[in-house]
Amino acid sequence: MEYVTLNTGAKMPLEGFGAMMMTPEDAGKAEETVYEAIKTGYRLIDTAASYMNEDAVGRACKRAIDEGIVAREDLFVVSKLWVQDMKTEEDAAKAIQASLDKLDLGYIDLYLEHQAMGDYFAAWRAMEKAHKDGKLKAIGVANFFPNVLANFCETVEVIPAIDQVELSPFMAQEAALANMRDYGVTPMAWSPLAEGKHGIFTDPELTAIGEKYGKTAAQVALRWNTQRGVVIIPKSSNPARMAQNLDIWDFELTDEEMAAVTAKDLGKSGIIDHFDPATVKMILGMRIHD
Ligand SMILES: NC(=O)c1ccc[n+]([C@@H]2O[C@H](COP(=O)([O-])OP(=O)(O)OC[C@H]3O[C@@H](n4cnc5c(N)ncnc54)[C@H](OP(=O)(O)O)[C@@H]3O)[C@@H](O)[C@H]2O)c1
Repeated sequence: MEYVTLNTGAKMPLEGFGAMMMTPEDAGKAEETVYEAIKTGYRLIDTAASYMNEDAVGRACKRAIDEGIVAREDLFVVSKLWVQDMKTEEDAAKAIQASLDKLDLGYIDLYLEHQAMGDYFAAWRAMEKAHKDGKLKAIGVANFFPNVLANFCETVEVIPAIDQVELSPFMAQEAALANMRDYGVTPMAWSPLAEGKHGIFTDPELTAIGEKYGKTAAQVALRWNTQRGVVIIPKSSNPARMAQNLDIWDFELTDEEMAAVTAKDLGKSGIIDHFDPATVKMILGMRIHD
């Protein structure tokens, strides 16, 4: 495993486990799956208030700690503030405490604003306070596009440690990464396997590159992101694929191979269109509590 140093000085694993469980079947076994991921060797777990499984993630982590598989300080737990709680500073403070209580791991290593929606400046003030109080070791954002991130970084007191955005071979976002680096913000990829879209697992170019190293197309896609300094959080509920996705630290792509993967960029998301007002309205309408 390799690590990246955040602007807080903390070390963060370059690879973690995505704990968003989309199907009812996956959601029902979230605790077992996250426990399995830790046993497999994952040390970073990415959850969110809106995934409705912070309690299950917390239980899985505690079980692994109690069994001596990992120490709390070697786990890196990420969660996110949902837009419903990004109206006032007080709403955000309450939601941060709810995340802390559900995870019940003493502190959260990294807490993100899930979207640049609602009053994300008021919510940030609550996050800055919890950060200064030591409850959130690092704070960051997700889905902040370059212009929004630039405005945010020019305005707030604590610069986000992370911007978690969609980053896969089909959504390479090189300009966004350059902008993040200008502000000392570490890039983190959601859906690094493009949620399986665009035939990524059988893509001829990724497959051909992988054959040279005895790796799959998925492993090439994951390695490519980490090699450009992006933290990745692939999700798999399947133990063999979970292990496969972690087995990317014994090969290195050449500059030409890196460029060939980057060239697959489609320049727009095949998953969600954040620039469509209907998407914004839909997301703002998603309620996760009364
Ligand atoms: N901040 C945000 O707005 C945001 C948005 C989306 C996601 N996220 C985070 O990013 C994480 C990852 O994204 P994601 O779950 O959407 O998608 P992903 O990791 O890109 O892809 C997951 C899909 O690929 C399959 N898969 C995984 N590894 C595979 C392999 N080696 N070979 C073949 N199939 C494989 C999985 O199925 P199996 O489980 O059956 O293996 C699953 O269907 C999430 O869990 C969440 O933590 C954040």
